[in-house]
Amino acid sequence: MIVTKRAREIREIISDLELLKLDPKYREAAEINIRFFKATRSVFSFIHWLISVAPKLRKIRESILELADLPLKKWQRKTHEGLIRYQSSRFGRRMVAAFIKELCQIILKIKEMKNNDEPTVVFDLGFGGGELGRQVFKKLPDVSLVYVGIDISPAIMETARQAFQPLHEKGEIVFQELSILNDEVVDALRREASGTSKKVVAVWCGNILDLDKYLSAGKIDIMWHARVLHHLTLADKARLVDICRRLSPITVEMDDRNCFWFKFWTTLTTWLIYPDVFLMNGGILSCLRDPTKEELTGHFKLVLPFSYVRLIFGRNICFQDEKWETAMKTLVRGFAFGG
Ligand SMILES: C[S@@+](CC[C@H](N)C(=O)[O-])C[C@H]1O[C@@H](n2cnc3c(N)ncnc32)[C@H](O)[C@@H]1O
Repeated sequence: MIVTKRAREIREIISDLELLKLDPKYREAAEINIRFFKATRSVFSFIHWLISVAPKLRKIRESILELADLPLKKWQRKTHEGLIRYQSSRFGRRMVAAFIKELCQIILKIKEMKNNDEPTVVFDLGFGGGELGRQVFKKLPDVSLVYVGIDISPAIMETARQAFQPLHEKGEIVFQELSILNDEVVDALRREASGTSKKVVAVWCGNILDLDKYLSAGKIDIMWHARVLHHLTLADKARLVDICRRLSPITVEMDDRNCFWFKFWTTLTTWLIYPDVFLMNGGILSCLRDPTKEELTGHFKLVLPFSYVRLIFGRNICFQDEKWETAMKTLVRGFAFGG
């Protein structure tokens, strides 16, 4: 049954990609994906693809786009749904346990440093439905939080609405979809969280690379982004770092590393343990764009299974003072970040 469904989906995806190939803007990316999906039809052809095609793609890594990055709504939605199902499974939760542990420690440290009862405002850039946020809520039930999830994909907003609904119904969160995002909106969310024991959750459909057009420094306490960088060009990655440094005192970057074992692991899990051709496409193609351990710079720490966490400190953020300098040092040394 699984095999039949998988084969049918692969056929449909390839025929949609053949049509997309006619658009010169997406020709190369469509061809890469067509070859990928043709290879996923059997274990042998996929191993052949891994050995003979993947190393060549690594050399042109900036031009790789995953299926979810292409303007094919149906497959974008399928990928996001697959990602959410996977992340909320016990297996998926284990895979991000290291990210959650680091994040929660940092949130608590920032809270301690602020030393007031104000809610902590966290922004999740490219939140993909918010599974990381929900896991943070579980670990920090008593911390007053405003969680703002931002994603460029309209399909994600739909998925997020469904995924946050159970928490909303249980009365653990207040959930809202924002039509605009600016300083006043963030202030209002902070005020709302001050008057309730619930977490205040807001989602906004927009480009994280435009955030500095709408927000000023000092409104956000912590930003994080997980597994977003492989969707961005080199120039956009640098722009994101710049935006993070201007808007937030600290940004936590979480991502995977390119290594043989990650490719091996993703192939194995998406074929056997969690069979899903969309996750396989996202996992393997994103891995080809990820940095190796040797390419990482700054304050970073390797975490299990094949990932890393990097701290990006803000500049010229209004509440930066001696206390903040000490907190920065504690974060770097106390949490054993190298760099
Ligand atoms: C691989 S998913 C990761 C989702 C989530 N952060 C996680 O770790 O589960 C990457 C997400 O980043 C979003 N994204 C990519 N580029 C973006 C941009 N420029 N602005 C906002 N979101 C973006 C995608 O739509 C996608 O939902």
